[in-house]
Amino acid sequence: FPLTSLNTFGIAAHASAYLRVESGAQLQAALADPELAAMPRLVLGGGSNLLLTGDFNGLVLHIALQGKDVLAGTDTHHHVRAAAGENWHGFVQWTIEQGMPGLENLSLIPGTVGAAPIQNIGAYGAETKDYFHSLTAFDPATGQFVTMDREACRFAYRDSIFKQQAGKQLIIVDVTFALPKAWTPNLRYAELAQAVAAQGLTAPTARDVADTVIAVRRRKLPDPADIGNAGSFFKNPVVTADACERLLTQFPALVHHRQADGTEKLAAGWLIDQCGWKGRALGNAGVYEKQALVLVNRGGATGAEVQALARAIQADVQARYGVLLEPEPVFV
Ligand code: EPU
Repeated sequence: FPLTSLNTFGIAAHASAYLRVESGAQLQAALADPELAAMPRLVLGGGSNLLLTGDFNGLVLHIALQGKDVLAGTDTHHHVRAAAGENWHGFVQWTIEQGMPGLENLSLIPGTVGAAPIQNIGAYGAETKDYFHSLTAFDPATGQFVTMDREACRFAYRDSIFKQQAGKQLIIVDVTFALPKAWTPNLRYAELAQAVAAQGLTAPTARDVADTVIAVRRRKLPDPADIGNAGSFFKNPVVTADACERLLTQFPALVHHRQADGTEKLAAGWLIDQCGWKGRALGNAGVYEKQALVLVNRGGATGAEVQALARAIQADVQARYGVLLEPEPVFV
């Protein structure tokens, strides 16, 4: 089964078996079949955080569950639930239209609702975990559905239990968000605050913030429909305050952001850019010319070519800054 249109990198690869999943019951029934249950599995949503390094000898479960609804909520929060296969951006815009803002900073992130908790997607000063209430997941080990709250998901920067051994097998079927009824715009991210101010918006609405985020993202991130990519290819590395201090003596312009726990988050895009990689290519894989953190498929790239480029970048950044960049997408 061809996977080219199911991964935003646009890498040509095949899977030996494919199932489009449209309901929880269908998923449960499929994995009750011992033959299907025994196959290696790849759970696929929007395919936007994935690097296919070759053919997949196993079963692709394409999560296509649809549906969004408003739940009872509380005095202080709206509760909205969406099925895992819903398009993330479409869901965010729908919550704004419902008069339930909160997720607007996360507009235009590619992928599905079900993928959002896995890597705790975040942008422009907001993360999934900030608005997460609970989710339903199918556990193939027991054949049952489980409900998980925020704590159970062990969210961290671009991380959750679903990326770890303890939760890797779980298949998310729906996600519920809690959106505070008392809304104020979140303009903590300087670039967003500046872009809002530049429009003369003194009391921006959620719609204004969403539109600004969309404009900022369009300016610097490639649309996978035009150029294959998986968003940021590396996580922003987190180093100790001491390590940051040492780097600053040698590289005073180093971009760094202090974290609540005293560690420092460096900008991987800046490190890669400084190593001269922006806009460069290796075979058919390249570094996007407007944002060095994004690797792109310049046409017909193989997963191996992207990996080779990623390794070359890692080596250069490591040699110059002593920092190991960790890839963000899942390698299959
Ligand atoms: N920078 C450069 N050169 C570049 C790219 C960035 O010098 O080519 C510098 C920028 O000038 C800035 C700093 O690096 O000072 C940070 O850049 P930016 O604000 O663009 O954000 P980022 O760290 O590159 C992160 C997320 C993005 C998210 C933005 C906005 C990660 C790995 N990436 O990018 O998430 O949209 O912040 O919040 O945390 C994604 O995960 O796929 C993604 C796009």
